[in-house]
Amino acid sequence: MARHLAEVSEKVDLKREQKKTLQTPVMRANPILKMMYLAMDLVYGRGRSLMKFKSIEILARYPYEAWENSSYHRLTRKYARAGYTRKESSDDLIRLIELGRKSQDNEQSHMVIIEDIMRQKGVKQGWFRTFFIPRFLAFGYLGLTRLMYGLNPKWSFSMNAKFESHAEHEYMKMVKEHPEWENEPVETEYFQYYPKQPNMAELFRRVGLDERVHMEESLKEYTRLTGKTLS
Ligand SMILES: [Fe+2]
Ligand SMILES: [Fe+2]
Repeated sequence: MARHLAEVSEKVDLKREQKKTLQTPVMRANPILKMMYLAMDLVYGRGRSLMKFKSIEILARYPYEAWENSSYHRLTRKYARAGYTRKESSDDLIRLIELGRKSQDNEQSHMVIIEDIMRQKGVKQGWFRTFFIPRFLAFGYLGLTRLMYGLNPKWSFSMNAKFESHAEHEYMKMVKEHPEWENEPVETEYFQYYPKQPNMAELFRRVGLDERVHMEESLKEYTRLTGKTLS
């Protein structure tokens, strides 16, 4: 796994960014996401828990995988034909491949760090909640996101922006619910792949901010494709 390439400056004031998130409305979920959140509430409870966030992170990688893979296929098709391809006509695909790759690595870092913290805290991981349900949801989400991207990429960019907006708000709210995290140091060997944070509060603010960056990138792709802004 590539080391997380920090898009967000290391010196950013994460408390200020958390405040900004909490003052900004979350994007409205579409019916597919609403059903997914409902399923998660039923399995993990309505509250915010590390286990619930771990399963969100398992799902979060799939849209990027779909964008990366599909763009590779399209790029190959372009070059595997008679005649020469101009750079301008490949630029969009190359950008999506790069975006897909770095975002997948970033989501993967979130997932492995959360699981490591759960291990350290001794959170019990049952088969149904940590194996069956994430796999079941992931199977559906991956299929759906590939289908949406294949039929019309703007649907996938739009859904992902909404998913990421939800994730950003959920992380920032979780930090607010845990004032004790301000003084709880955090250590994990996975900081090899991710900017080291001094405590639990800063770690999850930072993760929340990553989700905002993901949302903004999805919105940019949506606008590039349609010429419209999504709110
Ligand atoms: Fe994430
Ligand atoms: Fe994300």
